[in-house]
Amino acid sequence: MGIKSKDLISLSDLSVEEMKEIFINAKSMKEIIHREIKKVPTLRGKAIINLFYENSTRTRSSFELAGKYMGADVINISAGTSSVAKGESLRDTAKTIERMGADVVIMRHPASGAHHILAKAINARVINAGDGTHEHPTQALLDMFTMLGHLGTLSGKKIAIIGDVLHSRVARSNILGLNAFGADVWVCAPPTLLPAQVEKLGVKVTWDMKKALEGADVVMVLRIQLERQKKGLFPSTREYAKLYGLNQEKLKLAQDNALVMHPGPMNRGIEITAEVAESSQSVIEEQVTNGVAIRMALLYAMGGGKFNVTA
Ligand code: CP
Repeated sequence: MGIKSKDLISLSDLSVEEMKEIFINAKSMKEIIHREIKKVPTLRGKAIINLFYENSTRTRSSFELAGKYMGADVINISAGTSSVAKGESLRDTAKTIERMGADVVIMRHPASGAHHILAKAINARVINAGDGTHEHPTQALLDMFTMLGHLGTLSGKKIAIIGDVLHSRVARSNILGLNAFGADVWVCAPPTLLPAQVEKLGVKVTWDMKKALEGADVVMVLRIQLERQKKGLFPSTREYAKLYGLNQEKLKLAQDNALVMHPGPMNRGIEITAEVAESSQSVIEEQVTNGVAIRMALLYAMGGGKFNVTA
């Protein structure tokens, strides 16, 4: 078991077989999370550094817990409270971290492609925890793992990705992974929130939410990223909610038991109603638990020793 690529910057760094193996191991990892004593020695002696230049709740905490549950030493560095705030470059920060003995560096950065600079600068393995509007590969892995847990397969399943696709690294990584597993992927947003030539990513594109929802097996709602938006991409959040917000009535167009997903954090009342987010079809909280399991399985694959979940 292992991953051939030194780093995980794009989901395309993983083969389908490597992703399948991560999903199999994530099932065992999920069992560890539900134990009274959540600790195995798989990564004992390994040093993991979370280097976050952007805010995060789910990704950073789940990587931290994943490493700690597996016995690694994990530290967190935030741009705002580190020497980055004094002007230290990414390369110098990376070299400093490496000299401290990091085996794996997990980074979130606002610049698309920043991870390539980091990966070239250090020998430690680099995991992308989100770079600008480019990719968020571990979010896609946990999303696909969640879908597979309910649907059994992704082949031929209609997955409707709805919302701010333009700014969404989650959408980009999911499109790569879902296409590799043979899903029928749709994206739906107002034209101003779709990337140019998005159809070249191998997805069906519509501005009409009804078309996207009809017969969908999974409805993945994306957050409106107000912090990355220029003004004027849509008239008002009220209008957006009316046309593209997921509510119970619109959800009826999808399959009866369609899964409702959201990577979080949610803007309740804008892209999704609280009623839908908390409905029996919602797997949003399960995504969070699966995020820890997937990141444990990934860390094992990238830096693990002998696999021993019974210890
Ligand atoms: N889904 C996700 O990346 O959430 P955070 O920004 O809280 O890490």
